[in-house]
Amino acid sequence: MSRDGLHARLRAATDPAHRALEASLDWQARVATLDGYRDLLGRLYGFHAVWESAIAAGLADESFLAPRRRLALVASDLDHLGLPPSAITALPKPVSPMLDGPAAATGALYVLEGSTLGGQLIGRHIAGLHGFSSAGLAYYRAHGPAAGAMWAAFRKRLEIFGDDPVAEAALTGAAVSTFSAMRAWLCDGPETPAAT
Ligand code: HEM
Repeated sequence: MSRDGLHARLRAATDPAHRALEASLDWQARVATLDGYRDLLGRLYGFHAVWESAIAAGLADESFLAPRRRLALVASDLDHLGLPPSAITALPKPVSPMLDGPAAATGALYVLEGSTLGGQLIGRHIAGLHGFSSAGLAYYRAHGPAAGAMWAAFRKRLEIFGDDPVAEAALTGAAVSTFSAMRAWLCDGPETPAAT
């Protein structure tokens, strides 16, 4: 298997899930008002809180993960939108996924990291609507001008698993289930709030 092939196969395998999420998210309507935007960020906060912890445990590489964590960014946006710190930490959270090892953790991180790409477009839309520049828009600005370099580095990281079909299956499976968990969480709402 070619090394470059893994990313292409992963993108193809997750394309239907990406399209389904994009179709269900209804993001333009949700960010049209500040209340709707705050609600969407609140859902994203819960998702990132749980997924980033699970990814950290499975990946066991904090130096790679740290610059890709976005929980603090979404918390700062919620703070800017007037949500008190106690309300932010009390936001509902989904059930934690099983990410058994670096390959599965990398598959889940692919989804979170890839969301920074379409997020640039969403961020520009929100900036135009609500006049935010950086405060209030940290989650969607994400890596900002470093977006291209961060994505290139992430794609390079995928190469570690390019010659290992078992690892690739774990990575792809985790990416597909992260997409569907995200769709359920963002589009259907909290079903089983975590006990934290
Ligand atoms: C939270 C929801 C979303 C998630 C988790 C997500 C995830 C991803 C992922 C993993 C990729 C990388 C695909 C690859 O391997 O090349 C990607 C790319 C992309 N996404 Fe999304 N996405 C989301 C929402 C959206 C939405 C709503 C849009 C449309 C506004 C969008 C537009 C795009 C675009 C245009 C790219 C390609 C960017 C490029 O190649 O430069 N995404 N997304």
